[in-house]
Amino acid sequence: MAKSSFDVNKLLSQMTLEEKIGQLVQFNASLFGSSAAEITGPLEKLGVSSEQLKNVGSTLNFKGAGEVIALQDKHMKEDRNHIPMLFMMDVIHGYRTIYPIPLGLGASFDPELVKECSEMAAKEASAGGVHVTFTPMVDYVRDARWGRVMESCGEDPYLNSVMGAAQVKAFQGDDLSDDDRLATCVKHFAAYGGAEAGRDYNTVEISERLLREYYFPAYKACIDAGVTMLMPSFNSLNGVPSIANKWLMKKVLKEEWGFEGVVISDYNAIGELKKHGITDDMKKGAEMAFDCGCDIEMMSSAYINHLADLVREGRFSEKMIDNAALKVLELKKRLGLFEDPYHGASVEKEAAVCLTSEHRAISRRAAEGCAVLLKNNGVLPFSKSVKKIAVIGPLATTNEMKGSWSCNGENEDCITVYQGIKNLLPNAEVVTAQGCGVEWDNFDRSGFDEAVELAKSADAVVLCLGEYQKYSGEGNSRIDICLTGVQDELAKLITAATPNTAAVVFSGRPLVLKALDSHAPAILEMWWPGSEGGNAVARLLFGDANPSGKVPMSFPKALGQCPIYYNHPSTGRPKMTPEEVHQGYASNYIGEGNLPLYPFGHGLSYSNFVYETLELDKTTMTKDSEIKVSITVYNDSDVVGKEVVQLYMHDLWASTVRPIQSLIGFEKIELGARERKTVTFTVKETMLRFYDAECNFISEAGEFTLSTGCADNLLLTKSFTLEN
Ligand code: BGC
Repeated sequence: MAKSSFDVNKLLSQMTLEEKIGQLVQFNASLFGSSAAEITGPLEKLGVSSEQLKNVGSTLNFKGAGEVIALQDKHMKEDRNHIPMLFMMDVIHGYRTIYPIPLGLGASFDPELVKECSEMAAKEASAGGVHVTFTPMVDYVRDARWGRVMESCGEDPYLNSVMGAAQVKAFQGDDLSDDDRLATCVKHFAAYGGAEAGRDYNTVEISERLLREYYFPAYKACIDAGVTMLMPSFNSLNGVPSIANKWLMKKVLKEEWGFEGVVISDYNAIGELKKHGITDDMKKGAEMAFDCGCDIEMMSSAYINHLADLVREGRFSEKMIDNAALKVLELKKRLGLFEDPYHGASVEKEAAVCLTSEHRAISRRAAEGCAVLLKNNGVLPFSKSVKKIAVIGPLATTNEMKGSWSCNGENEDCITVYQGIKNLLPNAEVVTAQGCGVEWDNFDRSGFDEAVELAKSADAVVLCLGEYQKYSGEGNSRIDICLTGVQDELAKLITAATPNTAAVVFSGRPLVLKALDSHAPAILEMWWPGSEGGNAVARLLFGDANPSGKVPMSFPKALGQCPIYYNHPSTGRPKMTPEEVHQGYASNYIGEGNLPLYPFGHGLSYSNFVYETLELDKTTMTKDSEIKVSITVYNDSDVVGKEVVQLYMHDLWASTVRPIQSLIGFEKIELGARERKTVTFTVKETMLRFYDAECNFISEAGEFTLSTGCADNLLLTKSFTLEN
């Protein structure tokens, strides 16, 4: 569509104060339903009249193009100025065709794959009437108890930044008026992932230095990538809820970063200032949030009921309301809504573009690219000539493969593991038994015998384990992060019955897999893989696809290690000698080391990748020069595969304690049989900077190392010196 010439300033000049404030309000689509009986209750609860609804500028949570078009038509007739509404939705990992959860995307270490998935989601969602998606979620995470780690790309700021920026660019493209594009909204600013003890919505107390070093970079990367909107987080940050946190919203976001996009509160976050004990008075709540630069209030009624009074009383000038409303109108203009209020959506288009075989193929490839082969003693890949395969476990025949935040995806559209194996091997005998349940409080062992007998009768066993998909996502923190119920017991019996067994794990977080690791010959982590999960599992297990994902968030050996993360600051007693341990000075947990079961960056392949050399083009660097690092990898096998070449940096001496390793670069490459490739990274002085004790972002002269491999298994290392 040609760029819009619509005059938003002229429109604004014709609007009343209340109408302008309406643009700063977002309510659920259900509130705009046609039946008065349906809406009276919720509207009353919100303290909003149906007359006020006519000015409201945006909505969320609706079902498809049909509903969007009907609502838009109704709204544009009722609004005196006929301004189209913005339709926003959480398109997190697909709209109708669902691809792996963001933690899985993190595991892919593949921004190209993320781009392809996001473009597909944008195409489907825009056909379904969505204008803005509340994605990417780039909250930095360390505690796998938190249910929302599934929405993040994991424990590394750089990985989160790269993946967040890739999503912003792919969803938005070059021109938001393009029918296949969506505007994006980065969230949840800031440090929602730092919720104490991994309990959702819990308080966050983190030093400014840690915030800047680990938690902020991914939000900033999305802003640099051109994100349209930003959502402050629910949590209080160092004592003040983000929505009313002046330091965060005014000093960091506006003054330092110069963010000029639209800020939208999280769901009822202004209303929750009451529960936070900050204010019982919603006029005060409106004042605090608007003062902090929140343009749109989502699902509470502080703005619609109090902003006008705050202007009349002189607390805010009308010009400030104009500026915020103009930002919303400008966004509508950028999306081309004044010319086409549906942004190209139609029922026919939605049906035609969603869940096509082409989109299913993208989703399947994504599920394959995100899968991490955690362990393999050689049983995988299974031979395709096996005659009888037993698919066992509580997740063997379930189509609940989507994971949380699956938008308009349906379970019925997801392929089960059982079906996937039958699809791949139509001539094999495929049998199945559940063995036990997946609920945390299901201790029923009555299915064990049948499952064991079936396993004994098969040539290969696929053991489908994990956690219930409803145990991750918003409001789903876990007290324990084990395989739920009696799955570990089942796994022990099955692996003893048939050595040719591979465990496939489905989860929204890294689980504690220590017991499984001790007896399963192979473990494949699938996360929540989406619509094509079962087909992807089958292809991976039987060698039609080669696993290439890497761990994006450490898998602990025991829950007590949480929070556990590879980029830990050095400590004064990192490794104890046996004598010191004996004297009681151990830094290790009693009965367990400090290391995770599977570290960040770990992931096996059916290829055999050999890291041959790591070369630096110089060993000293000045602030204006750069170093080229070349890493050569050889595929010493006949199997084509992909490898993520990772580059880690360690600053050996600095005025502030530095992490033992930091990822500063990665590249996923494909290597043919017996092929060798060299990947070259450029290291610049800016990549060596950190926040000193006074929070200045600086680099300090001294010695650094550069290494490759994965976090706890660095294979090659060289050092260089940064000169003043
Ligand atoms: C979540 C956000 C989401 C919003 C709208 C909130 O509960 O925290 O991530 O975008 O709901 O659905």
